[in-house]
Amino acid sequence: MRAIDALQIALVAAGAGLAVGLAGLLVAWLTRRWSIRWQLTLVATIAVLTVFGGALGIAWMMFLSGHDLQVITVVTSIAVVVAILVAFVIGSAMVRWSGAVQEQARGMALGAHQPLHESGPRELRSLSAELAETQRRLEEASAREARLEESRRELISWVAHDLRTPLAGLRAMAEALEDGIAADPHRYHQRIRVEVERLAQLVDDLFELSRIQAGALTLTPEPVLLGDLVSEALAGADPVARERRVRLGGQVEDGLEITADPASLSRVVSNLLMNAIRHTPADGTVEVHCRLAPTDVPGDGPSVDLSVSDGCGGLDPDDMDRVFDFGWQGSSARTPTAPEGADGGSGQGAGFGLAIVKGLVDAHRGRVWVENLPTATGCRFHVRLPA
Ligand SMILES: Nc1ncnc2c1ncn2[C@@H]1O[C@H](COP(=O)(O)OP(=O)(O)OP(=O)(O)O)[C@@H](O)[C@H]1O
Ligand SMILES: [Mg+2]
Repeated sequence: MRAIDALQIALVAAGAGLAVGLAGLLVAWLTRRWSIRWQLTLVATIAVLTVFGGALGIAWMMFLSGHDLQVITVVTSIAVVVAILVAFVIGSAMVRWSGAVQEQARGMALGAHQPLHESGPRELRSLSAELAETQRRLEEASAREARLEESRRELISWVAHDLRTPLAGLRAMAEALEDGIAADPHRYHQRIRVEVERLAQLVDDLFELSRIQAGALTLTPEPVLLGDLVSEALAGADPVARERRVRLGGQVEDGLEITADPASLSRVVSNLLMNAIRHTPADGTVEVHCRLAPTDVPGDGPSVDLSVSDGCGGLDPDDMDRVFDFGWQGSSARTPTAPEGADGGSGQGAGFGLAIVKGLVDAHRGRVWVENLPTATGCRFHVRLPA
């Protein structure tokens, strides 16, 4: 074949193919909402018809005889039928595969677990894997939401309980004073003050907790000398410790300084100290230690470890995570008891102290946890903060 003929044939075949292809595109656009089964069938038909269009054009240019064209027409007709059949089979499989993914999504909406879609094209398989992952995340989120809802409900009933008991006591004492039947009015006034301080503390704690929960905590970080901060906290806790005959001690590495919100950090240390004193029997010891610690997260800088150890006799391992929950208290903690001590701070609390500690430490991108002492005489609360 001469080069010029080959060129002419190529041009005619390209022109005819382009015309058929454009017509095919138009039909594809018109039927774009049809099932993928029909779309695939259309693609296969267009492919065969493009060949046939080229052959027609070449025959028109007299490069093919009438006989050749007849042969090509027969072959093309059979090719169209085969192409349609194959496309239909593949299209049906695609419909089945996408139906399975659809089923998986529907099951997801109803909360039922559907098996992961393992067959079919890569895109459908990855869509199915994505759906399964989304379902897992949704389940986690709704479990977290349910836990939060549960703890919110518990919190409300605990707060109601913790308010009702002191209020009933206050009313009884106020009535006794009013009626002039209080045997020792001075002691009643003192008790009323203690109860009011306790209620004020409870309301403060609730306010702090709601700010932590709402993410509305505003920290004002500045350089804090831990030696000074711990000394102040120890001095603040000293009267309560003396009253309970608990020794306070410990050690802070010289010159240890971190950037933190001083008021929040003081609150963390004093909450831990108050708890430790409250749970240590008379003649026991509470110690605060502070040292530079190697980081426990690879890649992060060094951190500071602040620990408060007590003589509580050790915590039940099951309680070790729960102590940081809002309102959680040890077994007999919610039976109404009279507040101990006259300071209003050493008596029965509301179970908010450690939740506040955790909230404040989290806000400083730190970590708090508790462990039992190896001697089994008590436990040690650790606070890790970035140095
Ligand atoms: N140092 C500790 N030793 C032993 N148990 C502790 C200690 N600190 C806390 N706990 C246990 O964890 C519970 C929760 O402590 P948390 O400080 O949150 O609440 P609380 O001290 O009971 O009340 P609040 O702090 O609101 O006055 C306590 O009731 C107690 O059972
Ligand atoms: Mg406490």
